[in-house]
Amino acid sequence: MSGDHLFSPFQLQQHILKNRIGVAPMTRMSSQQDSVPRQDVLDFLVRRAENGAAMVYTEAIVTDYESAQGYPGQARILTQRQIDAWRPVVAKIKAAGALAIMQIFHCGRMGWPEVNPAGRIIAPSAVAPAQDNPLTGEPYPVPDEMSLFDIEQVINGFVRTARGAVAAGFDGIEIHGAHGYLISQFLATYSNRRSDGYGGSPENRYRFAHEIIQAVDAVIPDETLLFFRISNWGVADMDVSLFADQAEYQAIIGLLNKEPLDAISVSTYRFSDEAFGSGRTMAALTREVTALPLFICGQIHDRASAEAALENADLVLSAKSILLNPNWVAGVRDGKPLPLHSSEAANVAYTEEPLP
Ligand SMILES: Cc1cc2nc3c(=O)[nH]c(=O)nc-3n(C[C@H](O)[C@H](O)[C@H](O)COP(=O)(O)O)c2cc1C
Repeated sequence: MSGDHLFSPFQLQQHILKNRIGVAPMTRMSSQQDSVPRQDVLDFLVRRAENGAAMVYTEAIVTDYESAQGYPGQARILTQRQIDAWRPVVAKIKAAGALAIMQIFHCGRMGWPEVNPAGRIIAPSAVAPAQDNPLTGEPYPVPDEMSLFDIEQVINGFVRTARGAVAAGFDGIEIHGAHGYLISQFLATYSNRRSDGYGGSPENRYRFAHEIIQAVDAVIPDETLLFFRISNWGVADMDVSLFADQAEYQAIIGLLNKEPLDAISVSTYRFSDEAFGSGRTMAALTREVTALPLFICGQIHDRASAEAALENADLVLSAKSILLNPNWVAGVRDGKPLPLHSSEAANVAYTEEPLP
């Protein structure tokens, strides 16, 4: 593969991305009030666009005021005030020549009562993660099994949040189906024990994701991009493989392939890890079943790793490297030695310390 591939343009519907590098979604927990992020957190996104990233994701935006929030200080886009806070950020990201993408999310069983205004914890089934919540030091509460009414309410939250993103001018929206949050909880038998139409077969476990994608697609303009993020791991009980095997994972990708999506984003710990004992990576297994544009992330930290990751994907996303180094894109372009950062180093994202 040519050395210029990473800095070659990529067409995503009507957009031409200037290179193959995006800023991965990163939760910052910075909102003091009104579910609006701190100004320096918003400025950080603009700076990464100005410094060469072709696409910039927001943090995961919480889809309602009842049960969606999973961490303190998360952001929403459900009120005019919140829309007005994001609008200039989006305008500046676009002015810098990058795409602005809002990721939207419901935490499901990863929540706890104190972080949600309505104090409700809901999930496909009344099963809590096995590990304790690292933020409270307590076990996660056992969630309420979602009723059909709950399902409809949650879908409405995704719809309203998508409308907010459109009103703020975002180029695209990503539905967060990864990392063991609510949609991911439906996809995995580990957390979905339902016996109705939302549980059991892969098709049934996928139904909730399908309904959200369809409902969001129906309210956004044709030109607004729609992405879906998926992973085989969750932030709690991290070692659990959320999909039983390659066939089950590829069956879900096959279902996503039929949706009105503009890309699939695959999140991994390390992009080069083999998946499901197949001898191939998550990206390669995804590519086998869909021709949709594909984004990949996971320990992409320098030019060599970015180029290797692009062998089975269209764009690379960086979280920790681009978080800690404002000049990361330039460093990659110049082939500088760039370190692999630990998760602990990235914890600065959750402090009030201004990032470079
Ligand atoms: C501080 C921080 C916050 C994150 N928040 C989110 C998030 O809101 N949504 C999401 O999908 N992933 C989130 N992630 C995961 C990253 O998007 C990415 O998938 C992961 O860090 C692996 O990429 P990396 O090796 O480049 O860091 C977060 C990661 C970090 C370090």
